[in-house]
Amino acid sequence: MSEAKDRPVSPPPTPCETCDMAHYLSRRDVLKSALAAGLVLPLVKIEISAAEEVKKVRPQSGDLFVFSLGERLGQVITLQDLPTGGPPLIAYPLDPLTRTVRDGSRLNQVLLLRLPQEDLTEQTRTVAAEGVVGYSAICPHTGCNVTGWKEDAKQLVCPCHASTFDPKDRARVASGPAPRPLAVLPLKLVDGKVTVAGAFSGRVGAEQK
Ligand code: FES
Repeated sequence: MSEAKDRPVSPPPTPCETCDMAHYLSRRDVLKSALAAGLVLPLVKIEISAAEEVKKVRPQSGDLFVFSLGERLGQVITLQDLPTGGPPLIAYPLDPLTRTVRDGSRLNQVLLLRLPQEDLTEQTRTVAAEGVVGYSAICPHTGCNVTGWKEDAKQLVCPCHASTFDPKDRARVASGPAPRPLAVLPLKLVDGKVTVAGAFSGRVGAEQK
């Protein structure tokens, strides 16, 4: 008998050694490999930038509104939250399907104000909901936020250069250097919630120079 014949023979490979290793890779391993190959990160980036874009989109018909500041930040605004006669609230639109608050642009800030319906001009009534009117909160003069309120005259006031706007009459300029009214956002009531009825009419923001 030859020496080679006496040498112990290696055991046959086990099924595991002969199988396709990919079959045994965990989900984590696959994800790691994909990350290493740079496949996942672009997809994540695309999703994030799409979400950011939704936040910047101007108010859409059917959007609700949420408080933009204060203790009730992010809560949906209903008719009961708006006392008749003011003062106004500053709100952001909310996409009701994705629950995305459109706060990615300050140009989406909206002044909501409830006034006696009989005080509104006929034209203003067509864009109001139960006396609630919606206007862009951005002054068309140089773009400050219109945060002031003249209680006695029921006028909106820009604190930067004292322009005043009449919310009873489509936010026409009552005084000051503003070159045009605030943009109007048509509203409707749906289940007691203040809802966007159409796009802004008029340009939002300041004059471009
Ligand atoms: S920015 Fe509003 S009056 Fe000048």
